[in-house]
Amino acid sequence: MSTSPPPSALETAEILDIGDGLMLGQCPSGEKIWIDGPCVPGDSVRFHRNGKRGTLTQVDTPATDRRPAPCPHFDTCPGCTLQPLPYERQCELKAEKIVQTLRRIGGFKEFDWRGLRASPEEFGTRNKLDLQVSGGQIGYTNGRDLLPIEDCMLGNDVIRDILAALKPLLTAPHGIHRLTIRTQTDRTQAHILVRGTPLPEGFLEACAADPRISGLSQQPQKTDPYHCILGSPTLSMRLAGVDHDLRADAFFQVHDQQAEALVQTAMDWLAESPCQNLLDLFSGAGAFTLPAARHAQHILGIDAVPGSGPDFLAADLSKDLPDDARIRDRAWDVVLTDPPRDGMEKRLCKQVRDQLRPERILYISCNPATLARDLSRFCHEDIYKLQRVQGFDLFPQTHHVETLALLVRA
Ligand SMILES: C[S@@+](CC[C@H](N)C(=O)[O-])C[C@H]1O[C@@H](n2cnc3c(N)ncnc32)[C@H](O)[C@@H]1O
Repeated sequence: MSTSPPPSALETAEILDIGDGLMLGQCPSGEKIWIDGPCVPGDSVRFHRNGKRGTLTQVDTPATDRRPAPCPHFDTCPGCTLQPLPYERQCELKAEKIVQTLRRIGGFKEFDWRGLRASPEEFGTRNKLDLQVSGGQIGYTNGRDLLPIEDCMLGNDVIRDILAALKPLLTAPHGIHRLTIRTQTDRTQAHILVRGTPLPEGFLEACAADPRISGLSQQPQKTDPYHCILGSPTLSMRLAGVDHDLRADAFFQVHDQQAEALVQTAMDWLAESPCQNLLDLFSGAGAFTLPAARHAQHILGIDAVPGSGPDFLAADLSKDLPDDARIRDRAWDVVLTDPPRDGMEKRLCKQVRDQLRPERILYISCNPATLARDLSRFCHEDIYKLQRVQGFDLFPQTHHVETLALLVRA
């Protein structure tokens, strides 16, 4: 029996803007509504209302700048919402998103907007693909179901080749529910992470026989750590002149060239004024912390999963700063922060603003909405001024975008 709604239950909208996976539509009444489904700004669509959201049923009139989506999985895969638009248009939309969100949520009227740096390539840029596996199939999830794919055009060539080689093995009985393939910067080596147990028959042997695969790690149960079961547990990543011996399950930027541009720009901005002591919050393995050592006399990176050595501190930043002498006993003139999508807790922003009181804050964000909210907290009562902002597209074809913002103490 068909479950599609009767035509009378359908409403129409013009798609205006990109959101966080959904598209913002405007109904003929002027009402705005978030719409779920493969549509892009400029489309006139029909949708079925589901509470406060709409589910796309058809595109009546496509946007004039639409192109056929290059990936054959576009209609079902939830990954690449912007693919039917030319890449230049995708970048325009992301740039507008950053500027408009800073104005609307942050209340920032004037700042030096340096534009959005586009990716030199629009496909084949990712150094990591993270895929779900279920019932002999592999693909991405929309939060409910697995949407199978044969290939993913976002991955670099080595990852796509390895995926093609390992995929047939997953049709045998096994307990794997997630597969991550990651390459090191020179793309000569790759590491495979699997979640679940047991492995499919022949999987370990296939990894061992492939000269491009330098290591395989497994997390049998969700609460277990990853164990390296074959080869080396690390990959060598080079970024802004620093070599990172990265554990294959640690966070690292997924677009090598654009990450280079992002870190380099942050370093250029940092180098504009002298810096004694730099504190890097949400530092990860030190993508920003370690290059910053060339510009600051003293550095400290804090993260739940930090880099190794004396320049790093392992701590939970979900609420506030840890009470640690290494933080307390120093005057920090620059704070760099790169939190996850949810941004920084209000209390953590307040501690940076009122206790650490750095001369400059460099904020790197993957979510314009939480960036705008946090910047407005720093700029409360004009304590800081938003001086400069630049966008970086590390995620072509998707709505995701990175932003670098510089605040100076008034
Ligand atoms: C967007 S990444 C940035 C990492 C790093 N700056 C880089 O560019 O590689 C966010 C980082 O926040 C860390 N993180 C997430 N939640 C955290 C928490 N509650 N406390 C401390 N660190 C956390 C993650 O481990 C991750 O390294």
